[in-house]
Amino acid sequence: MGFIVAIDGPAGSGKGTVTSIIAKKMKLNSIDTGAMYRCVALACLRNNVDINDTEKVKEVLETVNIELLKEKDNLIVKLNGEDVSKEIRDNPVNKIVSQVSAIREVREKLVELQRKMAETQDIIMEGRDITTVVFPNADVKIYLDADVEERAKRRFAQNQSKNIECNFEEVLEEMKKRDENDMNKPFGALKKADDAILVDSTHLTQKQTIKEIEKIIKRAQKVKKLEPEIYRERPETKWKIFVRTITKGFLRTLYRIAFRMRISGEENKTKAAENGGYIICANHVNFLDAVAVVVFSKEKIRFIGKYDLARVGIIRWLEHLFDVIPIKRNTQDLEAMKRCLKALKNKEILGIFPEGTRRGMEKNQKVKNGAAFMAIRSGVPVVPVGISGTFKPFSKFYITYGEPIDLSKYKVKGQEKEGQEQATKEIMDNIIMLTNKNK
Ligand code: DC
Repeated sequence: MGFIVAIDGPAGSGKGTVTSIIAKKMKLNSIDTGAMYRCVALACLRNNVDINDTEKVKEVLETVNIELLKEKDNLIVKLNGEDVSKEIRDNPVNKIVSQVSAIREVREKLVELQRKMAETQDIIMEGRDITTVVFPNADVKIYLDADVEERAKRRFAQNQSKNIECNFEEVLEEMKKRDENDMNKPFGALKKADDAILVDSTHLTQKQTIKEIEKIIKRAQKVKKLEPEIYRERPETKWKIFVRTITKGFLRTLYRIAFRMRISGEENKTKAAENGGYIICANHVNFLDAVAVVVFSKEKIRFIGKYDLARVGIIRWLEHLFDVIPIKRNTQDLEAMKRCLKALKNKEILGIFPEGTRRGMEKNQKVKNGAAFMAIRSGVPVVPVGISGTFKPFSKFYITYGEPIDLSKYKVKGQEKEGQEQATKEIMDNIIMLTNKNK
């Protein structure tokens, strides 16, 4: 799989133009998925198929062969060998394409084709469900948006420049209807993926929009290049242990100068270690908390850290030193999961913030079930930790360890999800109780 840039957004947001300009500038292969749905719509028109007759549409679908070719920087769209680049943009296709694209079988066939196209090349792909369905793990995920009035204005100006007769009100109405259809289809509906970066082009010129997206892509390319380095696991040599011990001591001194450290309940870690590894679950207030838990523990604790943080050299060095496990957020990061389970099997200690992000509970973010899942699966206890303080210089900084929690009672066959939810709640209740102790 190459480097994948996925862009979604409503009709008229400019994703088509922006994508093709960026593709040229950054040497990515652009794939216009809308053109593919347009080909199927055109095939239905040519075969006089009523698009409400799904069975007939499916028959047409079997006969459709779509090719997207590049000729002198222009996209040539071929339907069964015939160049239909112009015809697919005409009004009859415009009118039915959204409905055609809502048919499940049509989507399944085209999504499969789109994924195939990305197997061997670096691509930039735009559409409606690229960030959510086609490539939920794309290297870059962008949602390009603009107010519907602004998008209608752009489409109207485009039509006028091509001498296509229309009036603004009609274009606006059509645009609203397309939005409604695109956002409410049962399959592949247009929506912003949680981790997609929103680029609102309402008040941006095309040049500004391109610059902004280019910046996002360049940053991701840099991270992608670092990937092997980020994932490299450094062996536990004597030298590494020595440097880690010195670094811990140095950081402990800094903390003691900056704060009045109040650490209690450490015997709970010893209790939890009786049968092997365990998971430390803390509330996440500040970047200082993970470091504090690690450097003030005599045990080696391996925290799970946001993958993106490791793109900064010094952080990456520290993460390697402390064997932090990088995790890509908002995706099913199987690599991170594998590393965590392996560590627990090796009787190591993991550190996880179930809130997922700093002050997640205050921000009303859903608490993550990952820690509960791993504890139940590996049969290890969880040690809850309450972190509190103002984090102002010379103030008290509390780290309070609670009694280990045995989560084996939540291991019920067929009710795994419910079990994890309940276990997560028990962990969080304990963390909150420990945090409140020092208020
Ligand atoms: O981007 P466009 O206007 O050429 O798209 C044509 C239609 O296809 C539009 O109504 C939305 C639909 N489409 C889709 O459902 N999924 C995609 N990935 C791309 C387009």
